[in-house]
Amino acid sequence: MNIKQLAAEKAVDWVEDGMMVGLGTGSTAVYAIRKLGERVQQGLHIKAVATSVESEKLAKEMSIPIIPFAEVGQIDLTIDGADEVDPDLNLIKGGGGALLREKIVAARSRQVMIVAGDNKVVKRLGAFPLPVEVVTFAHEWTIEKLASMGCTPVLRKTESGEVFVTDNGNYTVDCHFKEILNPARMHRQLNDIPGVVDNGLFIGMASTAVIAYNSGTIEILR
Ligand code: A5P
Repeated sequence: MNIKQLAAEKAVDWVEDGMMVGLGTGSTAVYAIRKLGERVQQGLHIKAVATSVESEKLAKEMSIPIIPFAEVGQIDLTIDGADEVDPDLNLIKGGGGALLREKIVAARSRQVMIVAGDNKVVKRLGAFPLPVEVVTFAHEWTIEKLASMGCTPVLRKTESGEVFVTDNGNYTVDCHFKEILNPARMHRQLNDIPGVVDNGLFIGMASTAVIAYNSGTIEILR
């Protein structure tokens, strides 16, 4: 079992009967959705909300009952991956292109549990390029404004070379900062730029991180 699977499947142990569960997006979250699906097939009763079209599709294939966000009350527990996790459990997310729905679902959740291999744990955020979701209108100008924040911004493309479009019909700009000294301030400053919808900094949103190591050990960070 790889470390992503180890962390993701461990987190599913926290899911209890009757819960409303938020389903993350990305290669680690996939393992959690699959494991949760197995438990549902064995009789676990839950409802879930997905953070992407992709995760919703997988959840439905696994027989997990999916509720539209409009009908969701409080979410009890969201299990999601991350690109970087710092010692305060601040995160960079969005490498998988789903940061906006992930942040909305996280904001509606009592508990956000991050699942990751130890390679995602960093002392300081920023080595991973920070994803920023921007509206398509005037995106060239928005990218100029992002560059003025001290990063190298790169408009995300698909493998076939087309501009990547999010589930919300927006573009993603990957901002290479190298290091982010004050994540909370950076979060506010980025979201103040007209044209920016949201950015991949998740400040104070995660309550727990389930971190798996190659040795097979699991560490719970809170
Ligand atoms: C999806 O938009 C992201 O936030 C992912 O949760 C994050 O990129 C981690 O992805 P992996 O689990 O694929 O590394």
